[in-house]
Amino acid sequence: MSRFSRPLLLALVLLAVLGTSNSQRPRDIEQTVNSLLSQMTLEEKLGQLQQLDGEGNGNFRPEHLDLIRKGLLGSTLNVRGARRTNEVQRVAMTESRLKIPVLFGFDVIHGYRTIFPIPLGEASSFDPSMAERSAAVAAQEANNAGLRWTFAPMVDIARDPRWGRISEGAGEDPFLGAAFARARVRGFQGDNYGAPDKILACAKHWVAYGNAEGGRDYNTTDLSENTLREIYFPPFKAAVDAGVGTLMSSFNAVNGVPASANAFTLTKVLRDEWKFDGFVVSDYTSVKELINHGVAANEEDAAAAALNAGVDMEMVSRSYNTFGSKLLQQKRLSQATIDEAVRRILRIKFRLGLFDHPYTDEAREPFSLLRTNSIHLAREIAGRSMVLLKNERETLPLNKNAGSIAVIGPLADDRRAPLGWWAGDGKDENTVSPLAGIKAKVSGQTKVGYARGCEVKGDSTAGFQEAVNLARASDVAVVFVGELHEMVGEAASRSTLDLPGRQMELVQAIQATGKPTIVVLVNGRPLSIEWIAGNVPAILESWMGGTESGNAIADILFGDVNPGAKLPVTFPRSVGQVPMYYNHMNTGRPPEAENRYTSKYIDSPWTPLFPFGYGLSYTTFKISNLQLSAPRIPANGKLTVSVEVENTGKRTGDEVVQLYIRDLVASMTRPVKELKGFQRVTLQPGEKRRVEFVLAQEHLGFWNREMRYVVEPGEFRVMVGANSAELIEAKFEVIPN
Ligand code: NOJ
Repeated sequence: MSRFSRPLLLALVLLAVLGTSNSQRPRDIEQTVNSLLSQMTLEEKLGQLQQLDGEGNGNFRPEHLDLIRKGLLGSTLNVRGARRTNEVQRVAMTESRLKIPVLFGFDVIHGYRTIFPIPLGEASSFDPSMAERSAAVAAQEANNAGLRWTFAPMVDIARDPRWGRISEGAGEDPFLGAAFARARVRGFQGDNYGAPDKILACAKHWVAYGNAEGGRDYNTTDLSENTLREIYFPPFKAAVDAGVGTLMSSFNAVNGVPASANAFTLTKVLRDEWKFDGFVVSDYTSVKELINHGVAANEEDAAAAALNAGVDMEMVSRSYNTFGSKLLQQKRLSQATIDEAVRRILRIKFRLGLFDHPYTDEAREPFSLLRTNSIHLAREIAGRSMVLLKNERETLPLNKNAGSIAVIGPLADDRRAPLGWWAGDGKDENTVSPLAGIKAKVSGQTKVGYARGCEVKGDSTAGFQEAVNLARASDVAVVFVGELHEMVGEAASRSTLDLPGRQMELVQAIQATGKPTIVVLVNGRPLSIEWIAGNVPAILESWMGGTESGNAIADILFGDVNPGAKLPVTFPRSVGQVPMYYNHMNTGRPPEAENRYTSKYIDSPWTPLFPFGYGLSYTTFKISNLQLSAPRIPANGKLTVSVEVENTGKRTGDEVVQLYIRDLVASMTRPVKELKGFQRVTLQPGEKRRVEFVLAQEHLGFWNREMRYVVEPGEFRVMVGANSAELIEAKFEVIPN
């Protein structure tokens, strides 16, 4: 017997049919694509491979209309707003010979108009469902603004906080990164990216862009294939498995071959191994930049190298378009290669339902932006993303009904920094600053004073005295310091991780007043704040929390929200420790305090300031009683690992229970710890719960010297705890199958 009644079953079938009427069934799509392809001229084919940039303000370039009319432009980026995209689309649909719709792309990274925390912040929630929900809001807003494609998620693993783009990804860990990649793809695309509130996603930057040498953006990278496969590939694989429609090839070279001309990553791995059937777009002019990389003498070479390696669409530079025909004549490009690239792009346009529904309803756009529910969600996610790094003597939460609060710092009343880099179409005027959030939270009895103190950049300390006076006259001081939005994101690498300008001295001056001082960081990367961590009683990492950042900060400062987020990236003590990540190899001489000849520094501890996975709550938790379902399992078997977690404090709160493993003896060195499970749980005071994880082949193996994924028999350590440094452990054995 079916679980469904007959009428319900009929309705479900009908729904399924209607649901796919937008986009055709796969077999039909392949036939339609091939029949369209057979009607296209070479110029029209090359036109589909071209993406060009609009004007800075979201408008299209008038000269592009003529290209579209001639069938010479397949996609734009940055053109947005339903009226504008419709105007462009009308030319494609009514004035071009084959009526192939234009695909409108944009960087909708952490929101379109409603801005959510930067992805690094959102990853701190250790709750991928948050990323799925924020991406869904972003998709709905973007789609209504005429967009059908986002250049997100950015799934680059980043182990170097100097790299400004660390803010755009999920941090340093491949397991966490994969979970967030999957969730974001689902949020943007749903089950059908042709649905009216969804958009096509793009996993970027393929690949190893996050390993830029020296943390300097666009820089080259040299990595073993093992590290590529185990650290840098997994979030991309997760995105592909989740059905991502496109990937973007990165700017950097990988082991001597630029990623935008790399047949190993673009074809062998992506197509042959992973069976990816969407398309790959280059990054901005990365095809032409093959000349600077020194693997192409001119644009002709560049076009041949990129297209032959597997980059289907060229962003902004025009090498395919200009030289495609000549390269074909010279037999440096084959007709089959060009056709395959066009086929991949058309396939996605059909799956998007673009041919049937090329236009956007202009009347809906204004109503879709900044909806009340979206704003509530932005506040909830921001609250779940902020990490309490220190809270001595219960300095936090503050009392909202009494006393006086000095709100200090250059970022206290700032509405731009919380939006971060790539803020979509987010606007300062829709954003709540921390000062506004605090004022809205406290009752009439509480006095809130404000002093800027200094700027984020620059040398002036002229505002210090006013800030110090305010702190002296108040019961408590909350100091907002960190980075401007322009200090994070693309082309924003830094050579230090210090607070820029005179901000550290401002914190020191306020702390010297003797008033309880709380530091709230507004930033997009780990900062070296050793002095603050050693001297100030409370620190909240708010990241760049988006439109509702100020309200979310106030929710936490006054205890309406109990922080439960954890660091998705290690905080080093100083920039000199970088790269520093928890899942490193052991070395033959692991650090020992008493032994000089071990792997450490003579002028700094070897440990981080705050480890990966770290974060506090206003309550306390105990994790105990680690149990394994068996002492040994076959290599293809499964092991259940469980612990008890108990809220031992006085408030309801969240703990992120984290599971790590170590393969103790293997044919290759293995990391000292690898995250293989996490669960964020909410517990009432006194509540105790058993949390369970399952370990299987996909968690226990690695890529061996022959580049085969293997689970090697032998002993493993399993560790569970509240962060990567405080863990309880047990051992189990893997035996041959
Ligand atoms: C360059 C960036 O690297 C990439 O992430 C972005 O999607 C494109 N520009 C388009 O804006």
